[in-house]
Amino acid sequence: MGTILVTGGAGFIGSHLTKRLLLEGHTVVCVDNFTYTYDPFVKWDHINAFRNHPQYHLLSIDIREKTALQKVMEDYQVEAVVHLAALAGVRPSIQNPSAYVDVNIGGTLSVLESMRYAGVRKLVFASSSSVYGDDSRAPFQETAEVNQPVSPYALTKRAGEMLCENYFRLHGIETYCLRLFTVYGPGQRPEMAISYFLRNILAGTPMDVFGDGTSARDYTYVEDIVAGILASLDAVRGFEILNLGSARIISLNELIGTLEEVTERTALVNRLSDQPGDVRLTHADITKARRILGYQPATSLHQGLNTMLEALNHAPINALPV
Ligand SMILES: NC(=O)c1ccc[n+]([C@@H]2O[C@H](COP(=O)([O-])OP(=O)(O)OC[C@H]3O[C@@H](n4cnc5c(N)ncnc54)[C@H](O)[C@@H]3O)[C@@H](O)[C@H]2O)c1
Repeated sequence: MGTILVTGGAGFIGSHLTKRLLLEGHTVVCVDNFTYTYDPFVKWDHINAFRNHPQYHLLSIDIREKTALQKVMEDYQVEAVVHLAALAGVRPSIQNPSAYVDVNIGGTLSVLESMRYAGVRKLVFASSSSVYGDDSRAPFQETAEVNQPVSPYALTKRAGEMLCENYFRLHGIETYCLRLFTVYGPGQRPEMAISYFLRNILAGTPMDVFGDGTSARDYTYVEDIVAGILASLDAVRGFEILNLGSARIISLNELIGTLEEVTERTALVNRLSDQPGDVRLTHADITKARRILGYQPATSLHQGLNTMLEALNHAPINALPV
């Protein structure tokens, strides 16, 4: 089993991915700088269950430190990279675009350069459904024009894809760029809608809801995303862009209703106007991922939310079976 470097491995998706990679017998090198995008203790919590696993190596490095990153790839004989480290989220990118450009574009370039000089030739890159913007026809296909990003975050993700394609053509780094559609599950970033709503509903406190509730999202359970990343690591050849979503959509109002059902509580909603940078709809066409990866999202929203609720109530995140 090869060694996989996971950038952003202490984050929400990265920690779920790491758990699966370890279970499959891989060695995992996690590179994460535990930046204050949200409480770093939450990130430590994500990785707590496998921190002492003999095949797990945690390195607190910033992805922009190119020389250090190259050395890590060489020292650990890394076979493939899953590049998840980024400043995520649309709204803060409007407040602080230069940090997003720096980490998401500069950082991705640094990862690619390190791979180039360390001779690592396989990459899976986390892009985002946000690249589609408001003009794309739903369900979104990978062939859609994506030249009008509605937020700096979306722009940095599109630029990341373009850098990856460039490095494939120039340096033969085989890459799958995965456009992830709103990912949820235990350990979801605290500012994301489901995590934020669940905590407020359980606490009986009012929660801010932007817009009239008719905007809709394709919510995808984190284990389905992880399955798509693992399949990409196996399949990666050439350069491809692939949607990973659930292919089902639900409006914000329906989501809140479902959360009320699952928690058996009433949500206290504080309605606010639409947020700039938020798109009205995301909806994945997953035909290409099905064909190339055999990708088949299996978790219903109800199942996923119940698991998330259970984890909030007691289960430690990412515990490995004993
Ligand atoms: N969660 C979603 O719904 C979603 C949707 C689309 C795309 N994505 C993408 O998937 C990836 C993972 O998202 P997530 O939700 O797990 O976010 P996350 O914030 O939980 O994880 C990202 C991790 O990257 C680390 N990081 C940030 N800057 C770094 C740097 N300069 N050097 C090293 N590490 C750094 C953070 O500390 C964090 O642990 C991101 O690239 C995100 O843009 C996520």
